[in-house]
Amino acid sequence: MNRIPVILDCDTGVDDAIAIMLINKLPQFNLLALTSVAGNVELEKTTNNALRVLELIKSDIPVYRGAAKPIFREHVKAVYIHGENGLGGIELPQTSHVVPGITAWDYIYQEALKWQGELEIIAIGPLTNLGLAFIKYKQLPELIKRIVIMGGSASIGNVTPAAEFNIYVDPEAADIVFRSGVPVYMCGLDITMKAYLTAEEISQVGALGTKPAKFFQEVAQGPLNFSLRIGLAGMSLHDPAAVLYASDPSIFETHQVGMRVETKGPLSIGRTVTDLYSDTQWQNNGFIITDVDRKAFYQKVIALMSQY
Ligand code: RIB
Ligand code: CA
Repeated sequence: MNRIPVILDCDTGVDDAIAIMLINKLPQFNLLALTSVAGNVELEKTTNNALRVLELIKSDIPVYRGAAKPIFREHVKAVYIHGENGLGGIELPQTSHVVPGITAWDYIYQEALKWQGELEIIAIGPLTNLGLAFIKYKQLPELIKRIVIMGGSASIGNVTPAAEFNIYVDPEAADIVFRSGVPVYMCGLDITMKAYLTAEEISQVGALGTKPAKFFQEVAQGPLNFSLRIGLAGMSLHDPAAVLYASDPSIFETHQVGMRVETKGPLSIGRTVTDLYSDTQWQNNGFIITDVDRKAFYQKVIALMSQY
C-alpha cells in the first residue's frame, strides 16, 4: 500500500489528543509531523500537549510550532470543554523532544514542495497555519492534494448558534482555505455530532488497560460529562471523525458542494455556508460529510486503540 503523506494540524485539546492516538495506528498514512496552533488553549499548551501525547504513545513524530493567535482576531479559547491545560487537567509526563525552529507554515510548504502534489493536510483546529501558508506561498495550492478539516457545518453552531469553534476562532483563515483551490473535505458538526461514544463505550476503551487506553477514558470524562449534562447521548469525537474519514470514507456519507464562510455579519461570523440544501448552486470547491455508521465508527476507534 502506498501510504499517504499527511500532516496533522491540531490545537491539542481532548479530542485532538484522541485523534493523534488513532492516526498513529492508521496504516494508510505516512504521518510526517504534527503542527500546532492556538485554539482550544494557548499555543504553548497545545504544542506541549501534542508533544506529551506523542511521548505517551512512544512516537518520534516531530511537532512544529504554528500561530499563537488568529490572523486578524483575538484568540478565543475553549477552556470550558478542555480545561485550563487543554487535557482536562491531566498532566502527562513531559517529553525531551525539542520543537524545530521552522514555523508550521514554512514546514508545510517545505513538505509540499518535497511531495509535489501528493501531500494531504488534516486540520482539526483553527485554520490559521494554513491561512498563513497560503498567504506566504502563492504556489502552495498547486502542491496540496486535499485538506480534510474538522470544522464548520451546513446547519448548526457550537460556539454561537451560527458557528462551529474552529471556524469561529479564525474565519478569515478558513475563507482563505476555502478559496485556495485545494479541495476541502468538511467534517463539520453535521457528522461529528453523530460520531459520538457513549459512557459505556468509553469505559470499554479504558478497559483495554494500556496507558493510552486509560488516558483515552480519563481525558474524555470532562467533555463526556458536559455532553451528558446538556442531554446528548455521548461525547462527540469531533477530531477523530475527521481523521477516520480521511483514512476510509466508506462508513461516511459525502456530498460535493460549494462552500464559503461568513467573516462579517455580527451574528453569523464564522458560519460556513454550503449549497447542499439550496437550489442555487455555487462552484464546487469541496465536499461536506453528513452521516456516519456510528457503530462502525466506534468499532474502528476501539480496534485502533486495542493496538497499543
Ligand atoms: O468544534 C469542535 C472543534 O473545536 C474540535 O476540533 C475541538 O478540538 C475544538 O478545537
Ligand atoms: Ca481540535
